[in-house]
Amino acid sequence: MSKTVENEPVREEFNRWAAAGQGEEMEEHHLPIVLPTLALMRIESHDRVLDVGCGTGWLPRRLAGELTQDRVVGMDVSDEMIQRARAASAGIGNPTFVVGGVDRIPWEDDFFTKVISVESAYYWPDPARGIQEIFRVLAPGGSAWILINYYRDNPHCHQWGAQYKIPSHLLWAEEWAELYRRAGFTGVEHRRIPDDSPSPEVYTGRWFRDAEQLRAFKKEGALLVQGVKPASELR
Ligand SMILES: C[S@@+](CC[C@H](N)C(=O)[O-])C[C@H]1O[C@@H](n2cnc3c(N)ncnc32)[C@H](O)[C@@H]1O
Repeated sequence: MSKTVENEPVREEFNRWAAAGQGEEMEEHHLPIVLPTLALMRIESHDRVLDVGCGTGWLPRRLAGELTQDRVVGMDVSDEMIQRARAASAGIGNPTFVVGGVDRIPWEDDFFTKVISVESAYYWPDPARGIQEIFRVLAPGGSAWILINYYRDNPHCHQWGAQYKIPSHLLWAEEWAELYRRAGFTGVEHRRIPDDSPSPEVYTGRWFRDAEQLRAFKKEGALLVQGVKPASELR
């Protein structure tokens, strides 16, 4: 890994989101696609879980009660997000929060049994490198679960790109899967996670043309890409 990844623009942008209170709003938006993902992950109390791009840490806090102490870590490139995550987590089952970019995860090799990332991967400056790093910190037999709403196969999100203030990656599901395979993952699969939460009759936000497009987007669903780091003897 010789190329240096420039994380400063993404750090500054998400520090702005955090200061504007947008970190806290994301739990409500993402929960309808995260709950079915957690069911597929079958997290058990002995798992060691990393949440990459954890924002203000609602998911590590949620998982902390289910896991043995100190076995859930939230990481984010935005120090403002992590500051809020720590403040909101005092006394809640000991999730650990660290500042870091996915291009250089500040953790030892072969540690986590499961890694999840929610609505973050398309902002990573170098997604291939991020997936390689996730592979590195996973224990043999561990699995990676990347969940994103912005991907090329869903035509109802392409308009978001023009609104982002930082570069983003609009990849096909198969391109994400190929990044997993190239990093060494096996059993790579992708699937859709539809968002079945109620939609408003009238949409006044800036991300969708109207309520009809929002409904179509949710029906199409988020993209979940998963893969397993092979057990040592298979590598
Ligand atoms: C849309 S937010 C989602 C936050 C959280 N996962 C949630 O569902 O509420 C995207 C998060 O990914 C983080 N992020 C973006 N690029 C990152 C990178 N290269 N390394 C680590 N975190 C990153 C951002 O700072 C931000 O907090």
